[in-house]
Amino acid sequence: MLIRNEISSDACAIRTVVTDAMKLLPQSIGTEAVIVDRLRADNALSLSLVAEDAGAVVGYLAASRARIGVVSGWALIGPVAVLPVRHGEGIGSALIAEAILRLRASCKGAALVGDPGYYGRFGFRTFPGLRVGDCPQQFVQALPFTASEPEGELIHHSAFGLQQRV
Ligand SMILES: CC(C)(COP(=O)(O)OP(=O)(O)OC[C@H]1O[C@@H](n2cnc3c(N)ncnc32)[C@H](O)[C@@H]1OP(=O)(O)O)[C@@H](O)C(=O)NCCC(=O)NCCS
Repeated sequence: MLIRNEISSDACAIRTVVTDAMKLLPQSIGTEAVIVDRLRADNALSLSLVAEDAGAVVGYLAASRARIGVVSGWALIGPVAVLPVRHGEGIGSALIAEAILRLRASCKGAALVGDPGYYGRFGFRTFPGLRVGDCPQQFVQALPFTASEPEGELIHHSAFGLQQRV
C-alpha cells in the first residue's frame, strides 16, 4: 500500500471512498465528499492524501488550514475515510501517521472532530477551552506540535458549514 498526494485523476475515486465510508456513520448527513470537492475547488486542501493499493484508491485523508481562537497556523484533519471492505487493515492509521508527519513540519498542531476512541491512539485529546459550535466537547480534539495548548473556537473553512453535525 502506498500513501501519496492526490492527483487530478483521483477525484472520482475519492468521492466514492468518502461517500461509502461515511454511510457507516449514523451522524453523517452525506455531504463529506462535497466538502472535499469544495475545499479542492477553493485551493484549501493543505493535505490531500490517498491510500493506493493495487492501483486503486482505498483510503483518503484531507487537511485544511484552521484557526483556534485567534491563533492561526493549525491544520484541521478531515474527512478521513477508508473503503468499508478494507477496514481494520491499518489504512486509516497509515494515512493519519503520514498526515501528522507532514503537518508537523508546517503547522502549530492538528485538530479534528471525531471519535476519541479512534484518534486517542495517535495522541489527539480534548482541551478544556477547545470547542466547535455546539458539538459535544469530547469529539473536538487536538494534537499540538508545540508546548502551547489550544484554547478557543476551532475555526475551519466555510465548506464544513455543509456538515451540521459531527
Ligand atoms: C475510522 C476509519 C478511517 C479507520 O480506518 P481503518 O483503516 O479501518 O483503521 P485502522 O485499520 O488503522 O485501525 C483499526 C482500529 O481502529 C478501531 N476503530 C475504527 N473506528 C473506530 C471508532 N470510530 N472508534 C474507536 N475505534 C475505532 C478499530 O476497532 C481497530 O482497532 P484495533 O486496532 O484495536 O483492532 C474507518 O473505519 C472509516 O472510514 N470509518 C468511517 C468514516 C469515519 O468514521 N471517519 C472518521 C471520522 S471523519
